[in-house]
Amino acid sequence: MEPIKVAVQGALGKMGKEITSALCREPGMQLVGAVDIEAREGSLAKPDGSGSVPFSSDLDSILKGCQPDVLVDFTIAQATMPAVHIAAPRGVNLVIGTTGLAADEIKEIESLAIAYQVGAVVAPNFALGAVLMVHLAKLAAKYLDYAEIIELHHHLKADAPSGTALSTARMMAEARGKPFLVPESKQTRSRGESVEGVAIHSVRLPGLLAHQEVILGGPGQTLSIRHDTISRECFMPGVIMAIKKVVEHKGLIYGLEALLGLKESQ
Ligand SMILES: NC(=O)c1ccc[n+]([C@@H]2O[C@H](COP(=O)([O-])OP(=O)(O)OC[C@H]3O[C@@H](n4cnc5c(N)ncnc54)[C@H](O)[C@@H]3O)[C@@H](O)[C@H]2O)c1
Repeated sequence: MEPIKVAVQGALGKMGKEITSALCREPGMQLVGAVDIEAREGSLAKPDGSGSVPFSSDLDSILKGCQPDVLVDFTIAQATMPAVHIAAPRGVNLVIGTTGLAADEIKEIESLAIAYQVGAVVAPNFALGAVLMVHLAKLAAKYLDYAEIIELHHHLKADAPSGTALSTARMMAEARGKPFLVPESKQTRSRGESVEGVAIHSVRLPGLLAHQEVILGGPGQTLSIRHDTISRECFMPGVIMAIKKVVEHKGLIYGLEALLGLKESQ
């Protein structure tokens, strides 16, 4: 079988470098081109030392010259939408991990994918374990009435609580159809931010990467569901799975849950 030809936009970034390396290791996939606004050379050495691929800040020229089946984008939201408008009309399928896309931009990606009959996978989190953690928390939310979340991140993280913690609390409440009960306590200080009855506690420390623990409680028992990100490698199985899936799909797949078949079984 022909390998799936992949170009990476954001190739000089932290995720881009991880993805170009993963593609070189993956049988059945071929890195054929790279794009980054900071590209200075006309070629990018492949991380496995097996030669180089065309490299430019001009996405259109890379797509025209390299004819990839899939464009993987891990950049910034302002770069993603122009890329979709360039890639979809060329029949290039899209795997998008860039975060910060607005709801109407995701709708626009869907419309373009349908109009040009290409596949698009957009996932704000490609870490399989993190997606499973949220799925399991949603399942448990129906049976236990109290929940708190502790999210722990490196000290340079811009936001607190994390977007993942906020959305986990909201999705857990949605799954049970009502907010969680708030335990009666005289203490009001140091109880975190309350979202749908879930107290979210944020820890920021050098040495941490990204971690989240959901603790559910009921009389006489607790249930803890924890995910730890040790390195950016955790995102690679999800990205590779999305590349394989997107070439067989027309239209938008949103979220890794859908790729894993978890959406229907909630
Ligand atoms: N979906 C996920 O699982 C997941 C995981 C990690 C990071 N992310 C997201 O991926 C994105 C990239 O993360 P990162 O840590 O690699 O960031 P980074 O800053 O290390 O890399 C971004 C790269 O994009 C390039 N870039 C910026 N504007 C561009 C443009 N207009 N055209 C081409 N290239 C451009 C930059 O030069 C840089 O090399 C962020 O949005 C981040 O939130 C998503």
